[in-house]
Amino acid sequence: MSAVALSMEAVSLSFGPKRVLDNLAFSVRRGEAFGFLGPSGAGKTTTIKLLTRQLTRDGGRINLLGRPIENATTADYERIGILSDTSALYERLSIADNLKLYARLRGTSRRRVPYLLERLGLADDGKRLIKNCSKGMRQRAALAAALVHEPELLFLDEPTSGLDPAARAEVHRMLAELRERGTTVFLTTHDMAEAEIVCQRVAILNDGVIAACDTPDDLKLRYARNRIVVRTRSRGTLELTKDAAGPVLSELAQAGELLSVHSDEPNLEEVFLELTGREF
Ligand SMILES: Nc1ncnc2c1ncn2[C@@H]1O[C@H](COP(=O)(O)OP(=O)(O)O)[C@@H](O)[C@H]1O
Ligand SMILES: [Mg+2]
Repeated sequence: MSAVALSMEAVSLSFGPKRVLDNLAFSVRRGEAFGFLGPSGAGKTTTIKLLTRQLTRDGGRINLLGRPIENATTADYERIGILSDTSALYERLSIADNLKLYARLRGTSRRRVPYLLERLGLADDGKRLIKNCSKGMRQRAALAAALVHEPELLFLDEPTSGLDPAARAEVHRMLAELRERGTTVFLTTHDMAEAEIVCQRVAILNDGVIAACDTPDDLKLRYARNRIVVRTRSRGTLELTKDAAGPVLSELAQAGELLSVHSDEPNLEEVFLELTGREF
């Protein structure tokens, strides 16, 4: 079995005259949580649609579960789960009945339904009709529906958008568990902090172009500015880079000027700014 779950090579897509994805290339390893990170309009949903055959690319190659995507079989698609903002739940059925229906459509047993309700904090609301659910509950129900057949490859399009912090943390725990079990996760988010928590590697997408692709730690090492902010008695606040800070700090200390030294933990927001010149 190939170690690669999916890959794109030189993939492009235009809507009319507008090129929305330009020359995308990346690959996702089996068992990895891969983050596709970018601001609104960057092309994240479009990329998921290409990978799930809801759209067809203009050029390039896409491989999915070991074969060119145009040769993917129904059996291949049964190994995949998808959560998107268009994931359909039946408004007039309860959460639990929706999950049982999904189990039937997927040709799988409904035995995982109570477990999924429990894991997603929905155990007390299984009987609640979808039409009476909050946005957060709907989102968790849709995630449960995407997991009902234990997919080995999961596409999640902004899975925590609209969730409160507690529900968001529960989804993150669920994703960590899935990863431990070897599920491959392809996740889009505009939330840099989420990408750092959930993903082993991330691609940073800006205007349809991948600006960088690596582990969050390596991206931060390479692109974050590594600033130190120093407050002094009479010279105001100084910004130093870590490399150059040593001599300046000892000089300030000797002169009795040093009030405080603050080192910012670098984050992916800084990386994005450095790569694109844009605030995220
Ligand atoms: N069906 C479509 N027709 C025309 N333009 C589209 C269509 N779908 C998306 N776009 C455009 O493609 C770009 C990327 O959209 P999308 O993939 O939804 O971004 P994201 O999910 O990162 O917010 C946006 O500029 C959007 O307006
Ligand atoms: Mg989107």
